[in-house]
Amino acid sequence: MIILGIETSCDDTAAAVIKAENDKISVLSNVVSSQIKLHAKWGGVVPNLASREHLKNILPVIEKSLLESKKTYQDIDLISVTNGPGLIPALLIGTTTAKTLSYIWKKPLTGIHHIEGHIYANLIGKKINSIKFPLLCLVVSGGHTQLVLMRKHLDYKIVGETLDDAAGEAFDKVARILGLGYPGGPIISQRVQNYKNPKNSFKVNLPRPMINSQDFNFSFSGLKTAVLYTVKKNQNILKHHNLIDKLCFEFQEAVTEVLVHKTLKAVEKYKPRTVMLAGGVSANERLRSRLKMALKKEFKSIDYIMPNIGYSIDNASMIATAAYFRFQSYNKEKREKLKLNWKKIKTEANLKLK
Ligand code: KG4
Ligand code: ZN
Repeated sequence: MIILGIETSCDDTAAAVIKAENDKISVLSNVVSSQIKLHAKWGGVVPNLASREHLKNILPVIEKSLLESKKTYQDIDLISVTNGPGLIPALLIGTTTAKTLSYIWKKPLTGIHHIEGHIYANLIGKKINSIKFPLLCLVVSGGHTQLVLMRKHLDYKIVGETLDDAAGEAFDKVARILGLGYPGGPIISQRVQNYKNPKNSFKVNLPRPMINSQDFNFSFSGLKTAVLYTVKKNQNILKHHNLIDKLCFEFQEAVTEVLVHKTLKAVEKYKPRTVMLAGGVSANERLRSRLKMALKKEFKSIDYIMPNIGYSIDNASMIATAAYFRFQSYNKEKREKLKLNWKKIKTEANLKLK
């Protein structure tokens, strides 16, 4: 089965072609046109600018993904598109394009939840039937921080989530406080790699918010404020590369410690057979290795799956992969109806995962 994926929920215009065959998903093309440079000037994503860029790029990106996959539109069995959550002016470009292509090409169309895509990015290149349930997924992106329990495919129960900022958002805001640019996650993790830990008197004690709360919720807004106060108290920090690196190091340690601790607590309670990591922050090497080590130490028999780093951040292969599993769950009649989905699919900024 050949599936075209389209993703425009935030600041990446993305299209991909995947093939599902012999119990495995393979990516034939994965094209992402990033708008980072455009939005960096403003310190975050500007919805109307994103929309304009998506409009300019969407058809060339789709054309490139078809060319690179060596497939034509006749080969496509299913079109899939992110229809929420995200920025409406951005989402509408992807959904309108997907609907138009479905109508003209007479191909079935399915709408996919962005986070469902991130979760299913973990299955790219894996043996599909080797996934064991129940499964617990730590979702960490720019807009979401959630612990999601899955008892079977496409079945989601959110057992914990952030009460304020998402983990990626905290990385972005702290980078802004430190004058480092946008997006903060990759910049901060790069600064941590430069950090040499010299002996100096600069001590930082950042909080681990909600680490001991009895639920599986998170809060990162106070951590960001703690960084802000540290900088306000000592303006010298911003003048010294090494002090900025140290603050980045301490911040990344605080975020990853809370994320790993809460995930292990949820593992104790829900006893999953598989733990997965998903969303843009899953590209963070420290989080990837910390969670891996902690699980290996305390829960030896659990399978731990992380997405390939290229599929951690926003892309369309993950959307097409999730669409494959949705399609598999439909009977013949429902599959037939997908050809008229271009009339029905709604674009929703706050679409719920269900
Ligand atoms: O999933 P994603 O690409 O877009 C959303 O759905 O939000 O995630 C983007 C977020 C940004 O906040 C970015 O700073 C963060 O992921 N991010 C990282 C890293 N790479 C991206 N955070 C920490 N470490 C990274 N290496
Ligand atoms: Zn995302």
